[in-house]
Amino acid sequence: MKMKLKKLMLVVSTLAVSLLLVACGSSGDKKEGGSETKTIGISMPSKALERWEKDGNFMKDQFEKKDYKTDVQYAQDSVPTQVSQIENMITKNVDVLVIAPIDGEALSDVVAKAKKQDIPVLAYDRLIMHAEGVDYYATFDNFKVGVLQGQFIVDKLNLEKEAGPFNIELFGGAPDDNNAKFFFDGAMSILQPYIDDKKLVVKSGQTDFNKIAIKNWDGATAQARMDNLLSSAYTKDQVDAVLAPNDAIAVGVVSSLKGVGYGKEDRKMPIITGQDAEAASVKSIIAEEQTMTVFKNTQKLAEAAVKMVDEMVAGEKVEVNDKDTYDNGKKVVPTYLLEPVVADKDNYKEILIDSGYLKESEVKK
Ligand code: BGC
Repeated sequence: MKMKLKKLMLVVSTLAVSLLLVACGSSGDKKEGGSETKTIGISMPSKALERWEKDGNFMKDQFEKKDYKTDVQYAQDSVPTQVSQIENMITKNVDVLVIAPIDGEALSDVVAKAKKQDIPVLAYDRLIMHAEGVDYYATFDNFKVGVLQGQFIVDKLNLEKEAGPFNIELFGGAPDDNNAKFFFDGAMSILQPYIDDKKLVVKSGQTDFNKIAIKNWDGATAQARMDNLLSSAYTKDQVDAVLAPNDAIAVGVVSSLKGVGYGKEDRKMPIITGQDAEAASVKSIIAEEQTMTVFKNTQKLAEAAVKMVDEMVAGEKVEVNDKDTYDNGKKVVPTYLLEPVVADKDNYKEILIDSGYLKESEVKK
């Protein structure tokens, strides 16, 4: 009788544990010692920019060091591909989703599916809009990125002392990327007073974000727009500065300018901003074509994301440092912000090479 009771209790408790596992919806395998390996689904926009590949690799390494499994997918900048990759991760019942959206407006349905299945979501670098299910957001201070670009232009043209006027043209990032508006607003917070004072002149007259935004952050589209600006507004005048929000767009702008003879003794390159510290742009900075880039150390962003996920999984308090800025239309998403910094010809060695972010060999001509 005693034996039978014991057996029954064993069956009941095993059943209870299995039920608990099903209820938790965990995809985890049992590890020795009984704890579980959690799987993190990581959805990145594309490999077109070095930075996203670095982000994916850094996260994979750091999650695996902490005994997580990862499923890292890149969506080749195709929204339907990204949606179906995330749907697959949900079907596989990953434990947490980390997502950098291609189109911030296009993931509300898939995030709702994740929420239904109690899968927490961390928006990575770019905010996911109109989605209740976004739990946290890890990114760089996007407004500050623009401020650094604007301030760099003001300092290099010495606008505090010089009367000018100087000619400037403005570029914006992808209109469906929530970051792009922050970058632009940050830059304009610095540049607008000089435009109002007529120390800076936008000869094309194009200052509206929707007019200057570059779909998909595409360098070739930026090059075509710069070609148009040069042939319509700069047949007689020089352009002195170009606000380019990232390196991909700066590369397009530089090609266009070189095409009409900028970068020679009698026609010097304008001040050209950028962002991401892509190797090609750092080479261009060393060659005095592009002038600066905003460096966002993606290793640090990956570390922050891993820490937040770790805290989410453990049910601990997730550390954030911004609870006001990032409203996705449904909620203000608690955010952890990192600081961007300027890299130019004078400091790139210290900032980019000594930190190990890029190798000297990658930025040599
Ligand atoms: C990122 C930038 C990047 C751009 C294009 C933005 O959301 O914050 O670092 O240059 O997307 O991929």
